[in-house]
Amino acid sequence: MLDDATFRLLSENKMPDKDNSINGSSDTHRIATTGDLEVSTYLEIAQEREGTSSSAPAFPEPIRMPEAIAVVDFGSQYSRLIARRIREQNVYCELISPKASREAISNLNLKGIILSGGPSSVYEDNAPMAQPWVFDMGVPVLGICYGMQLIAHQLGGEVAPATEREYGFAVIHKNNPSTLFENLDKELAVWMSHGDRISNLPPGFNSIAYSENSPVAAMGNDSNIFGIQFHPEVVHTPQGTEVLRNFAYKICNIAGDWTPGNFVSETIERIKKQVGNGKVICALSGGVDSAVTAKLVHEAIGDQLTCIFVNNGLLRREEPERVRQVFQDSLGLNLIYVDAEERFLTALAGIADPEEKRKTIGTEFINIFEEQAGALGSVDFLAQGTLYPDVIESQTSESTAAHKIKTHHNVGGLPERMKLKLVEPLRYLFKDEVRLAGAELGLPSTILNRQPFPGPGLAIRVIGDVTFAKLEALRAADWIVMDEIKNDRLYENLWQSFAVLTDTRTVGVMGDQRTYQHVVALRAVTSDDAMTADWARLPYDTLARISNRIVNEVPSVNRVVYDITSKPPGTIEWE
Ligand code: XMP
Repeated sequence: MLDDATFRLLSENKMPDKDNSINGSSDTHRIATTGDLEVSTYLEIAQEREGTSSSAPAFPEPIRMPEAIAVVDFGSQYSRLIARRIREQNVYCELISPKASREAISNLNLKGIILSGGPSSVYEDNAPMAQPWVFDMGVPVLGICYGMQLIAHQLGGEVAPATEREYGFAVIHKNNPSTLFENLDKELAVWMSHGDRISNLPPGFNSIAYSENSPVAAMGNDSNIFGIQFHPEVVHTPQGTEVLRNFAYKICNIAGDWTPGNFVSETIERIKKQVGNGKVICALSGGVDSAVTAKLVHEAIGDQLTCIFVNNGLLRREEPERVRQVFQDSLGLNLIYVDAEERFLTALAGIADPEEKRKTIGTEFINIFEEQAGALGSVDFLAQGTLYPDVIESQTSESTAAHKIKTHHNVGGLPERMKLKLVEPLRYLFKDEVRLAGAELGLPSTILNRQPFPGPGLAIRVIGDVTFAKLEALRAADWIVMDEIKNDRLYENLWQSFAVLTDTRTVGVMGDQRTYQHVVALRAVTSDDAMTADWARLPYDTLARISNRIVNEVPSVNRVVYDITSKPPGTIEWE
């Protein structure tokens, strides 16, 4: 077991002072990633090919839209964080484009607008501006950093380059009473990141705080339009959450009913309304997104839902049994379990190229899914676990998760004839909200807190061609890794932790025998979103136990190495 100090470091996910410990990036929350899309990625790609992109509204007739704050995203790296912080206050929040028209947001029950930061300067050519409706609607507005400068610039004030660029910690001093800073200290530690500042307030505005370098570090007027030069959304602004909370509750007068309980009950009502008497299918992967999706749909329409779980033979030890046990036995879902191990292994025989493996697995999965759906007779809807970050990305650029996987891994799509409407109950949620909704629905934590597992499964962790014997060796090694990682309470602090069966053999001695067997590589990483990752500084004792056990318990392996490559330049998976 770990000593207390190491465990504390792990819990805080901090860089240790000695190498015999673990480090990590800033926090341990896992948010959506390409890696967690799993099976739904294949289906999403297929839908895109059919031309029914998942960015189409999933709930054409909302029952009741929650009171909302819109964040106009001017390109700050923190825009999503603002939305998450607002939602943590039980207030629904959406990111919208600076170009969005008033009509485009008319479906929102809008109570407030936040203008995010961004990399531009307001006086540059082509700097993005706020739409006039932002100031005409009569709802409160809060500009953050660039958003504040826009307010000044567009409402008749002046913005100029600061003599000293303010970056990092600063202290601001309240100098006029304001609801935005109500119940906060007179002096606030804040995080700044700007090169411009307000040189002349717009008519009707007062400074409500100043800093050493900015006479106007925050401003407001009598029409509930506010600007702040600092970033309340980052942890380096300790009272930032209170500022956002004051804005939402005291200025926008929001009731705060965006709770997991309300989301679950309202979503169930919406699904009932959308599906009516129709039949729905859902592909289960064992991961959290498809699990929460299936559970919500099942709560809404019961046996009109059929779930399909394809055992492709590339899963971890006991995974197929676990999925059956949880979904069929405990949750009582209508589950079609397809044992397709042989089919996948036959299709994969002799294929060593990673992209070729992915393509083969994707095509086989879609064929099987379509066969099963076809055997059900008429099906009207496909339920899938698209999340809010996927929706945002698909609205903005070619950088959708599906697009990336598609171009990187060249996965095939569902045949054109499979015309299904989409039920996407999670399309309004961030990953951590999916977990909260899942907990509200009573799903077990083994599902909710599961590390991401790639759609092509162990096939991309067996280097070279995939055989049953190699998969079995990898499953045995993987089991030991999981066992030790969980015993040492490391599991939930790691983004992913797993074994890779390399195609390298090395010489060893066991007893008096010379051996010539496989090398297993361990991979354990910390990450926030899988876009970047660092190798985890696992405790030496954990590494030692894993290595001993693998070499002793897995017959075809005689050496274990630890991968100490970060991403970039490496990737998380080896293939
Ligand atoms: P890489 O290896 O690209 O992985 O750093 C980033 C995340 O994506 C997962 N991954 C996949 N997930 N299909 C998936 O559904 C794939 O083909 C695939 N390849 C990688 C990986 O496990 C990590 O979470």
